Amino acid sequence: MATALPPPLQQNWIVEQHGTYRFPPGLKLNLPFYLARRFFRPSNPILLFEHLVATYGRISHYRLIGSHIIFLNEPEFIREILVNQPQNFIKERTQRRMKILLGEGLITSDGEIHKRQRRIAAPAFHRQRIQAYGTMMVERAATMRGEWRAGSEIDIAAEMMQLTLQVVARTLFATDVTEDVRQINDEVNVVMGLYNFLVALPRAESLLHLPIPALRRFRKAKSRLDAVVQRMIEEHRQLGVDRGDLLSMLLASRDEEADHSGMTDAQLRDEVLTIFLAGYETVANALAWTWLLLGQNPDAETRFHAELDEVLGGRLPTLDDLPRLRYTEMVFAESMRLYPPAWAMGRQSIHDVELGPYRFPSGTYFFFSQYIMHRSPEHFPDPLRFDPERFTPEQKMARQKFTYFPFGGGGRQCIGEAFAWMEGILILATLGQQWKLNLVAGQQIAVQPKITLRPKYPIRVIPQRRQSHSESEE
Ligand code: HEM
Repeated sequence: MATALPPPLQQNWIVEQHGTYRFPPGLKLNLPFYLARRFFRPSNPILLFEHLVATYGRISHYRLIGSHIIFLNEPEFIREILVNQPQNFIKERTQRRMKILLGEGLITSDGEIHKRQRRIAAPAFHRQRIQAYGTMMVERAATMRGEWRAGSEIDIAAEMMQLTLQVVARTLFATDVTEDVRQINDEVNVVMGLYNFLVALPRAESLLHLPIPALRRFRKAKSRLDAVVQRMIEEHRQLGVDRGDLLSMLLASRDEEADHSGMTDAQLRDEVLTIFLAGYETVANALAWTWLLLGQNPDAETRFHAELDEVLGGRLPTLDDLPRLRYTEMVFAESMRLYPPAWAMGRQSIHDVELGPYRFPSGTYFFFSQYIMHRSPEHFPDPLRFDPERFTPEQKMARQKFTYFPFGGGGRQCIGEAFAWMEGILILATLGQQWKLNLVAGQQIAVQPKITLRPKYPIRVIPQRRQSHSESEE
């Protein structure tokens, strides 16, 4: 029974008793039918989530093909799931299904396998280790900024994908974007395209071997992908030296808490693919949205440029500048509030669980969305306004936990978080130092909630060389 609830939970939650279980109210209709009629675009779950919060508040319930689904927009309940009771949950089905692509990597595994993999991978992401990557991130961004031409339109979303792909290639494999990395990227794109189709099928895993053309393409792309990654691993093993990249670190890591063993080749392959996938599209999207927001908010853009001039004085940024690039960090944080690259998360209970006054059966799905929470007016007044001041240290301290969680939380919090902040800030600083990116007028902007929150259309900008920068440099 729920007793002594923390303050935000001391409200009049409505409870519907079903046998020994207690559910919140929610949609009673057949959901696919309801979705199709009401929203016309069942592929955009954000519309459904917005509707649930507007109609039922911080917790709601619906059923889909026999499963109970709970949508949460209550920070305390999210904390309960991620931090206080993680042993009662596994990843929800769509993420588990990614095993057909990522095997038992950090994102898809659960329980003891996940704990062990996380222990072995953790040293590769330690702050000192990833600091070595800072210089390389700035070098890549400096090359890109040298290729832009004043007045020639570019798609900044595509540019950011290319840049972060180069960064992940360099940090994972100590290689420039070679044919291999390009091939990995191409195969991943084929596989991801088919993956969207696969996750919609019941028991997709058991259908994988059927002689259907789409599945054949999936199998081929997946085996080519495995082969390239396997070759990278073998090359690293043969060299036998620490090349300073993540793969060298993963090869050398041992499970110090258990049997001191390392990862098998199959585990390494799964982790390499996981980090490759998790590590570049997220950051690329965060950067693309940030340039959009800066273009739409000239006051913030002016302050951002002023900080770069003041802190850097015309030289390229280094790691030592990070603590002084405060406003740039606040801009990046506010951008991930409005456009969180990981826009929703989900878990499934593996035991009966209690949250506040509710009690749910084992097997219930729980979803919560950074996109919805970060735009809740009770936590972020005037939520649609872009205001980096929301991320001063004082404001951050004053805010309730799990009202802002772009990197998740608890034992499965993003392992690449420090990497992502460093990369985001250094790339913004390097590019913004030299260029002001003016948005092309009248273009269409929309979100596309796929695995990450992508811009639906290109974000078209025209680079304009910054006056103060060209005076102080070159
Ligand atoms: C802005 C950029 C990024 C965002 C918003 C982001 C967000 C997230 C979130 C929300 C999770 C937790 C998912 C869950 O618990 O269901 C996660 C996990 C993860 N992220 Fe990131 N991420 C970013 C960048 C990166 C980078 C740069 C890397 C690697 C270089 C990375 C690697 C991972 C991995 C391996 C996991 C799984 C961790 C685990 O379950 O133990 N991410 N990320």
